[in-house]
Amino acid sequence: MKYGKALISEFPANEVSQLGAYAECLQAEAGAAGGGFPAALRLHIGEPDFSTPAHIRAAAVEAFSSEQLTYGPAAGWSWLRNLLAEKIARVNGYVVDPSEIAIAVGGTGAILAALLATVGVGDEVLIPDPCWPHYAMQLAVCGARAVGYPLDPAHGWLPDITRLEGLVTPRTRLLLINTPHNPTGTVLPPALILDLVEFARRHDLYLLSDESYDEIIFEGRHASPATLLSRREFEEGRIMCVYSFSKTYSMTGWRLGYIAAGARLIQTVVTVLDACSSSVSTVTQRAGAAALTGPQACVAEVREAYRRRRDVAVGWLKECGRYTYTPGGAFYLLVDVSDKLAPDYGVYQFAFDLLKQRNVAVAPGSAFGAVAREYVRISLGASEKDIERGVRELCAFSRVGSPC
Ligand SMILES: Cc1ncc(COP(=O)(O)O)c(C=O)c1O
Repeated sequence: MKYGKALISEFPANEVSQLGAYAECLQAEAGAAGGGFPAALRLHIGEPDFSTPAHIRAAAVEAFSSEQLTYGPAAGWSWLRNLLAEKIARVNGYVVDPSEIAIAVGGTGAILAALLATVGVGDEVLIPDPCWPHYAMQLAVCGARAVGYPLDPAHGWLPDITRLEGLVTPRTRLLLINTPHNPTGTVLPPALILDLVEFARRHDLYLLSDESYDEIIFEGRHASPATLLSRREFEEGRIMCVYSFSKTYSMTGWRLGYIAAGARLIQTVVTVLDACSSSVSTVTQRAGAAALTGPQACVAEVREAYRRRRDVAVGWLKECGRYTYTPGGAFYLLVDVSDKLAPDYGVYQFAFDLLKQRNVAVAPGSAFGAVAREYVRISLGASEKDIERGVRELCAFSRVGSPC
């Protein structure tokens, strides 16, 4: 038997997807047995429950009927890259030439292209612990080694530069940061971002900044590390900033993201993008252009909805005596459930039992890294009513030791 590369074929299954599959399985089983079983409350999934705004959909329909729909340039169409340069200046606060932007299949495609362009077999990459599980999966694809740097729950889930220093070896190539952050919802303060930029400079590392949630921020403004670099340093390479349409415009299924980096570095990234996908669908790019040129009220509306949901979740956690922090962005919240666990009863089993017995799906923190193994992640991509019920059930549930 041949299974492909061991690093990839032996990569552990995603626990959040497993839980989602189990929720569907429970419902199907109940349906087959003739019983009515309501769909589980979906607080596990990192996806907006909003629909893509109508004017964005209409632009795609128009493109279907009027465009030639040929291959496009590997970096993306210049009309969209021009708009993206304007967006980066307007929202992210730094100047970038359209030629320093490349369009990819989602933030996922942009991050993978950035990693394939910069790290290789045996290289070490510093990623946050906890973090979005795809980083480790993508590093396995590159043959590189993920080295988790802990985020400290006692200090608002922020990284500590001293601990980062201790993880650097001669093989370290890249530091990955993510703000606003999945799964904590933490927003890195500008002073700490500056420390991280200096750390990357000190050790001559690439800095990959995942800013996929840049417009979902509840207090203050999102700070991109690119704003802390001189124009010359940006042009020299080192830094790569990734953005996405998925969360800002509720466009997860459209698969549209982009990356900004100095002209020479972006050329390397574009070669990877060309090798992987040739180009992103023109229909999707037209939809992205409509998102950027159309009314931006939809962005503010979605942000306000997430803020209200965050406040509902935080309010109920306070009510139940389980409050630890208030996330400043993205749409996630980690809840400490350590008191509900036991040495032979981990958070994965806890999440399965909560689903089976209370029909509430939350993501086990172990899916995001060792530091979150006594937490569950609640996603705010659900209605206020569902969030309230889900948090109350989560707080009330404490069945220790019942195997699924
Ligand atoms: C932190 C983070 N980065 C990047 C992505 C990629 O999103 P997409 O590929 O839909 O742009 C996600 C998706 O959940 C995420 O949570």
